[in-house]
Amino acid sequence: MALKLSGWGALESPPLPVTPKSSSSSSSSSSCLNFRTPRPPSVKCDYSCFEVRDVSYRPPGTEMSLLKSVNFSLPEKSFGLIFGRSGSGKTTLLQLLAGLSKPTSGSIHIQRYGNDGNPNQSPEPLTPERVGIVFQFPERYFMADNVLEEVTFGWPRQRGDLQFKEHLALRLQRAINWVGLNGISLDKDPHTLSGGYKRRLALAIQLVQIPDLLILDEPLAGLDWKARADVVKLLKHLKKELTILAVSHDLKELATLVDRSWSMKMGGILKEEPLRL
Ligand SMILES: Nc1ncnc2c1ncn2[C@@H]1O[C@H](COP(=O)(O)OP(=O)(O)O)[C@@H](O)[C@H]1O
Ligand SMILES: [Mg+2]
Repeated sequence: MALKLSGWGALESPPLPVTPKSSSSSSSSSSCLNFRTPRPPSVKCDYSCFEVRDVSYRPPGTEMSLLKSVNFSLPEKSFGLIFGRSGSGKTTLLQLLAGLSKPTSGSIHIQRYGNDGNPNQSPEPLTPERVGIVFQFPERYFMADNVLEEVTFGWPRQRGDLQFKEHLALRLQRAINWVGLNGISLDKDPHTLSGGYKRRLALAIQLVQIPDLLILDEPLAGLDWKARADVVKLLKHLKKELTILAVSHDLKELATLVDRSWSMKMGGILKEEPLRL
């Protein structure tokens, strides 16, 4: 089985998304200038920001708060990094952002801003469909015995709905190209891929539907130095098109990607903190 995939070499210019993001995040910095109207300049520079406001979390049936009034924001197409000691609450926060559990209080939304820096529409909730999450050691959750089935796991199986399947197939092709998996046979057992290629596969699964926010929990954990460098290079490419929030201990290796960083203190307290390397 081999899907004919055209041309991007691994880690060379990734294709632009075929389908634009939702209206909340579809603008790009290229819209900031309008050369046809010299004076006064007609400037349009909308952007969207993913925002977490006063989020606290206490698991149902417990008395202990795992997250305490967490606040932060991340503009579109930037890379945020959360670091902190084991057990401080980083994964718990990512699970809330991905909609896997609900905050006890607070809000998580996408806010759009105009060129004056003020919100120009009501905030939209960050629904789970708008988020992609790659868990720590994602390869442990591979279920299928070939790459194609792994990526299409959960797609509609019933006959009919051909148009929808074709649409998904195009997205699949784009996602596979995007992460540089196009040299790999779709027949291959995912468990036999190298460490770096397993991570690419896990990313491709999340990129079939272009997420407004891509969350990565310890993306470099368990990889050898070569695969780590490979994944960092890939993330650099993905960052051009996506908003990425990662949790990692590997501050040095990710530092060149990071636009904003926060440390999670024990007890679930998040503080903005520049990387000091
Ligand atoms: N459902 C839960 N109920 C009670 N405690 C939990 C639950 N999930 C996680 N914890 C605890 O919350 C703390 C933070 O866990 P976690 O978010 O996994 O930390 P990190 O990812 O920073 O290592 C840990 O002490 C963990 O044992
Ligand atoms: Mg964790």
